Amino acid sequence: MKHSVSLAAIVLCLLFVNQAMAGSYALSDSIVGPHFFDAFSFQAIEDPTYGTVHYVDESTAKSKGLVSSTKDRFTLRADDFTKLSAKGRGRDSLRVRSKKQYTTHVAVFDINHMPEGCGTWPAVWDKGDPWPYKGEADIIEGVNSQGTNEVTLHTSRGCTMPSSRTMTGTARDTDCQGGNGCGVFLKETSSFGPIFNSIGGGWYALERTRDFIKVWFWSRSDKSVPDDVKKGALSVETDRWGIPSANFLNTHCDFTRYFGSNYIVINLDFCGEWAGNATLYTEAGCPGTCDEYVRNNPAAFSAAFFDFASIRIYE
Ligand SMILES: *[C@@H]1O[C@H](CO)[C@@H](O)[C@H](O)[C@H]1NC(C)=O
Repeated sequence: MKHSVSLAAIVLCLLFVNQAMAGSYALSDSIVGPHFFDAFSFQAIEDPTYGTVHYVDESTAKSKGLVSSTKDRFTLRADDFTKLSAKGRGRDSLRVRSKKQYTTHVAVFDINHMPEGCGTWPAVWDKGDPWPYKGEADIIEGVNSQGTNEVTLHTSRGCTMPSSRTMTGTARDTDCQGGNGCGVFLKETSSFGPIFNSIGGGWYALERTRDFIKVWFWSRSDKSVPDDVKKGALSVETDRWGIPSANFLNTHCDFTRYFGSNYIVINLDFCGEWAGNATLYTEAGCPGTCDEYVRNNPAAFSAAFFDFASIRIYE
């Protein structure tokens, strides 16, 4: 009897500790200003989505002024001064990937500005290799300055989401398989493009556990942004962050199987499979064809840049 009482006490105690630990993470990487260059490498690769883009290496990016940093920010942009020939390679731009890979983690992105304009396809995402077997979680993505942000998971076959979930966004699809994926549109018009930029951007946060993947968004003017997010604290408590914008659950998707180690990727594509879709491009009110527009109008891309105040990873 005495034994079982103390055993029960130990079990209760462990449950309590586990409860207290849930949603609690410590800072592991603080990527601010020039530290960006230590944390990310440049991927001068052929665009897998056939965009009118040419991803350059680090030395080209630096010499052309496409990447820069100050003490408290780093900026990634496309070439906005070169008119391109009708054929041949696309517009010089950047695709960067974190040197580290992450499994269970929280990533907080404090962003002042994101690329905008016709033909642009910016994205901030988690990606495993090989794709899609190790998973992909798109945190920020959209095209042609249109609509709200879309948060999407891409997996191999067999991962689906319940249609009803606790989140403020709206599900587009519940099957996460392949290139289509299971997307969630955010409700805030300030979550993407020119409106996001006009109020000084905001914060995006991803939490990935073995049981769920959540994404939160707070615009710069949002009074409900948690203190730990706003201050870039040494630790964060995601349990206090409220209802997420997008919420992906493991009820019909074992995240330990469908997601492996993921890199963080930030890129700015032009046209290609999504932004270059003629129907969507025209619907967005964009002129001519995407490919011609991107090649002929360098000055149209002066606002096609990311400006990050910080990226902080908690584990
Ligand atoms: C372009 O987008 C529309 C609307 O989403 C879609 O129905 C169509 O299949 C797409 N076209 C191509 C060629 O991908």
